[in-house]
Amino acid sequence: MPSAVIVGMQWGDEGKGKVVDFYASEAHAVVRFNGGNNAGHTVVVGGKKYKLHLMPSGAIQRKRVIIGNGVVVDPEVLLHEIEMLNKEGLEPDLLISDRAHVILPQHKRLDAAYEKLKGRLAAGTTGRGIGPCYADKAARLGIRMCEFVDDGFKKRFSILHKFHNAVLIALGEKTDKEEKVLIERYASYAEKLKKYVGDARYEIERDLKDGKNVLFEGAQGTMLDVDFGLYPFGTSSNTTAGGACTGTGIPPNLIDEVIGVVKAYTSRVGEGPLPTELKDETGERIREIGQEFGTTTGRARRCGWLDCITLQYAAKVNGITGIAITKLDVLAGMNKIKVCIAYECDGEEIKEQPTSVDVFARCRPIYDEFKGWKQLKETEWNMLTKKGYDELPGEMREYVEYISKVCNAPIYMVSVGAGRERTFVLRTAFR
Ligand code: IMP
Ligand code: MG
Repeated sequence: MPSAVIVGMQWGDEGKGKVVDFYASEAHAVVRFNGGNNAGHTVVVGGKKYKLHLMPSGAIQRKRVIIGNGVVVDPEVLLHEIEMLNKEGLEPDLLISDRAHVILPQHKRLDAAYEKLKGRLAAGTTGRGIGPCYADKAARLGIRMCEFVDDGFKKRFSILHKFHNAVLIALGEKTDKEEKVLIERYASYAEKLKKYVGDARYEIERDLKDGKNVLFEGAQGTMLDVDFGLYPFGTSSNTTAGGACTGTGIPPNLIDEVIGVVKAYTSRVGEGPLPTELKDETGERIREIGQEFGTTTGRARRCGWLDCITLQYAAKVNGITGIAITKLDVLAGMNKIKVCIAYECDGEEIKEQPTSVDVFARCRPIYDEFKGWKQLKETEWNMLTKKGYDELPGEMREYVEYISKVCNAPIYMVSVGAGRERTFVLRTAFR
């Protein structure tokens, strides 16, 4: 079966980069379908750390890498990543959908201006212009890659620039006066990116029909989805499995597997309620050991126990066929590990994910407890990964199997460290 989608089951930063990198070895192409350079995917290969924001993670394995129409592309960032990979001796075999929208400098100014204005409803965005770019797409004002690399680009840029300036002035913000300089700069980016732009949908469909394996790499997580996340404290794209269809043009019946990535605990970067958040030493410990600092913005991530209500909801929204559990090593050495199994809200016990963010803010977690597993030395972990999943500490397996039951899906992968070698693969993504 040739297609698999990888999605985040929580608030992003579940470790999708590593899971994608792993399954990419069996894939012909790796496709991004949502978000932009708000994402930060860390892949560690041979002790070397790669941080990618826009380029699909498969680039490190010299795979065909495709940026789908559902992605918003900051040309400056993309060119920078291409350059960075070139320096590592990697020449990305890249295709950018001609339907993907372009992030312009004014989108970033608008992002900051909206956040300021939104006050307590501000999501704490990454400031990369993601929301305003998707807003222009929906308002049919945006510039797509096909227009960006075409002769008519300058005229379109000029119209959009004037529109953005009008909005910025109305909001009492500074405008970019240097329209001509910007146009020339962006025209030079377009010139460099032109060779990568094409009909991505056509190519993916052809590959799938030819029986080639295609991996769809989700960015962010389910709870940040613009429709199914905790609106308005999320991002502006569909981060869930359906986004792999609308963000690439591939119909649902061509998707075979949906693998949900679950981090062994909760983390969240940005604002919004988070019932299982730990504002104590345990939270601090998880953040330090798990290195929970944003790949994109460097912000400290808020950390807490695993939330099984959210997880169960995410499993259904994405229709997952399997799960990959990450960062189990971070919890090693704890006596007790808690999991949220229900919420207490306005005197009632609830077991369904609330839609309203105000209701969610009133939810208090009800916990169940697991016995922790012992801390292992580097050499012990390495030995265990050689021996296989069954040799893991019993307490850890109990925890893993509990998560699998909550998600009602089999375990595909278990990860106990950042490197490729610290992985137990129970099933492949492609069959
Ligand atoms: P935006 O996507 O920059 O508009 O940010 C919207 C919200 O999503 C903010 O709370 C961000 O912190 C969060 N967010 C966006 N991208 C990521 C990601 O890749 N990982 C985790 N959180 C993210
Ligand atoms: Mg990330």
